[in-house]
Amino acid sequence: MGLCIKNANILGKKADVLIEGDRIVAIGKIDEYIDGCGVIQADGLTLLPAFVDMHTHLREPGFEGKETIATGSMAAVAGGYASVCCMPNTKPVTDNPYIVKYIIDRAKEADKARVYPIGAISVGLKGETMAEMGKMKSAGAVAMSDDGQPVTTAQMMRLALEYAKDFNLLLISHCEDKGLVGEGVMNEGYNSTRFGLKGIPSAAEDVMIAREIILAEMLGTRVHIAHVSTASGVQLIREAKARGVKVTAETCPHYIAGTDDLVAGYNTMAKVNPPLREEKDRQAVIAGLADGTIDCIATDHAPHTKEDKNCEFNFAANGISGIETAFALCYTYLVDSGIMSLDKLSGLMTKTPAEIVGIPYGQIEVGGLADLTLVDLDAKYTIDGSKFYSKGKNTPFDGFVVKGKVKYTVVGGKIKYQSEDVQ
Ligand code: DOR
Ligand code: ZN
Repeated sequence: MGLCIKNANILGKKADVLIEGDRIVAIGKIDEYIDGCGVIQADGLTLLPAFVDMHTHLREPGFEGKETIATGSMAAVAGGYASVCCMPNTKPVTDNPYIVKYIIDRAKEADKARVYPIGAISVGLKGETMAEMGKMKSAGAVAMSDDGQPVTTAQMMRLALEYAKDFNLLLISHCEDKGLVGEGVMNEGYNSTRFGLKGIPSAAEDVMIAREIILAEMLGTRVHIAHVSTASGVQLIREAKARGVKVTAETCPHYIAGTDDLVAGYNTMAKVNPPLREEKDRQAVIAGLADGTIDCIATDHAPHTKEDKNCEFNFAANGISGIETAFALCYTYLVDSGIMSLDKLSGLMTKTPAEIVGIPYGQIEVGGLADLTLVDLDAKYTIDGSKFYSKGKNTPFDGFVVKGKVKYTVVGGKIKYQSEDVQ
C-alpha cells in the first residue's frame, strides 16, 4: 500500500516522494517496486503542499442550488486545495453546534477536501445576540465570522473579540459599512460614473478595517481582516502591524487579477463584495502581499446559480466562483509576471492561512502530512467557467489565458483529484 510520486519537481530538484498512510515517509530516489503501491508519474510536474482556503462558501445547508458540500469540496480538490474553511452564511445560519456537526458529517461523506466550518459571530448573522462560540468550537468550528454581513456595532465586535480571545478562536471580519455602501453596486470611481451605476467607496471598507484595528489594539486581541481590496485598507493594516497590533489579513485572487474594468457591459460576473477596485488598488494589494502586510490569499469562493447572475446588474448576487481558478490566476499574475517566487506564493496559499486558523497542512518533508498538489506550471490554457466542478459557473475570468494547471491533488495520502488529461 501507499503512494509513490515519481520524478516530481520539488523546489527546482527532481525527486520521488513515498507516502504511507497520511505521511511522507521518504523523499529522494525510490527505485525498488513496492508491492501494491500506487504510482503517479510526475515528469514535468511541480509538487507543492496542497492549498488551504480559509474563506470558502459551500452553501450547504440551505442553498444547495448554488453549491453543496460535495460539489464544493470536489471543486476544492480540482483547484489544488486540500482544506477549506467554510463561511456560516448558510440557511439556517451556522450559528450553533448542530449545523457545525452537520457540515462536518456531510464533508466526511463527500470524502474530498478537509472541511472546517466557521461559526457565526451573531445569531442569524443579525449582529444582535452572540452565537454559542464555545459550543461551536467544541463541535469543530475553527473560527468565527459573520461573513457576508458586517458586525454593525463596535460594541458587538468588542464583545466578540473578547469572547474569541477566551475561546482562543480566530475572529474574521467582513469589513463593510452599510451606510457608506448605500445602494452602491460596484466600486465608486471613474467607471461607476461611466457606467451610471451607484458606487461603493473604498471608505466603506476602510472605516471598518480601522475600527477592527482600534478594537484589537485596545483589547490586545488578534483579528483577521477578510478580502482586503483597497489601497487605503492595505496601508491601514501596514501601519497597525508596524506598531504591533495583532492583525492579519487576506486578499483574494480576483483583487490580484482584476479591476472594475471587468464590470464593462454590466457584466454581473464581476459583481462581488467588496467590489473589484481600480488599478492602483490592485497594485497596492499585490505590494501588500509582497511585503507581508497581507498575510495570505483566500478565495472567497462564492458560487451562485445562473438565475442569481442573469439579471440586471443592480439585482445580481455578489460573488465569484473562484476556487478552481485561484492557483492559475495567482501563478500567472504574481509568479509568471516576476513579482514573487513560487515558494512565496505557496506560503501565501498554504502554510500562512493554515497557521492563522490553526489547522493541519501539507509539508514536503519526511514525516510531513501528505496533503499535496501536482501542478503543470507550463500549461497555458483559457479559463472556461462552464467546465467547473463547482455548481457556480460564475467567473469574470472566462476567456483569460493563464498558466499553471492543477493535475493531481492528494489529501491525507489519497488521490482525491486527477485532471482528465492525465492517464
Ligand atoms: O461577494 C461576496 N459573496 N461577498 C461576500 O461577502 C459574501 C459572498 C457570498 O456569500 O455570496
Ligand atoms: Zn465577506
